Amino acid sequence: MFGRWVADVSRKVPSLLKRVSLEMKPQVVFVLGGPGAGKGTQCSRIVENYSYTHLSAGDLLREERAREGSEFGQLIDNHIKEGQIVPVQITINLLKKAMEDTMQKDETKFRFLIDGFPRNEDNLQGWNTVMDGKADVKFVLFFDCDNKVCIQRCLERGKSSGRTDDNRESLEKRIQTYLQSTRPIIQLYEKLGKVRTVDASRSVDEVFAEVKAILDKEG
Ligand code: ADP
Ligand code: C5P
Ligand code: MG
Repeated sequence: MFGRWVADVSRKVPSLLKRVSLEMKPQVVFVLGGPGAGKGTQCSRIVENYSYTHLSAGDLLREERAREGSEFGQLIDNHIKEGQIVPVQITINLLKKAMEDTMQKDETKFRFLIDGFPRNEDNLQGWNTVMDGKADVKFVLFFDCDNKVCIQRCLERGKSSGRTDDNRESLEKRIQTYLQSTRPIIQLYEKLGKVRTVDASRSVDEVFAEVKAILDKEG
């Protein structure tokens, strides 16, 4: 009798969990910081240790640039070299599709690290227009790093990354864009009490220890 009840419950629990997660809105952490602050590196570490899916806006744009038949290839290429922010219509569609694809493949994957977004006012407006009510932004994970350190890291990465923007000329522009357009977005979230700041100038392990403390607290 009891055995049958246990068997019955354990059969129902997975489908119940499935149903609950299907009804879950995507839970989003925006990951921001200067170029080379270590966003990608730390997101990989988070994915290894927590149930998050990492979506890098920059990676998605580079993928779209390389996609055969893309009507945006040239525009994306120019913006990346110039350290400019691509119009949000392009980026938000890539992000939305990546989120939907992830959740469709595995309905338990509804927690996302959205890396390198929103990077300016246009990005934020696009997010609010397209995703309002469709996703919950839990907080902004901000990797705070000295600009000189950021530039040095990107120049080092440039030796092997093959990226068209890991050179001194593009980096000067990227830092300007970061200071002029991205910092105000971080400040805006700060006013809402939604920023969790990490000192990103230290070693990868030290930075990750701080990240872990934040994620363990935030749940
Ligand atoms: P972002 O995604 O913010 O541009 P990345 O994670 O790609 O930054 O890191 C930029 C470069 O710096 C990479 O070559 C990476 O290996 C290196 N790096 C990342 N974090 C650190 C760190 N804490 N200390 C030293 N180098 C780092
Ligand atoms: O984050 P990452 O360093 O990979 O971004 C590289 C470039 O991709 C940025 O300098 C910018 O040109 C473009 N980008 C963008 N909009 C975003 C993220 C990245 O236009 N939200
Ligand atoms: Mg990156």
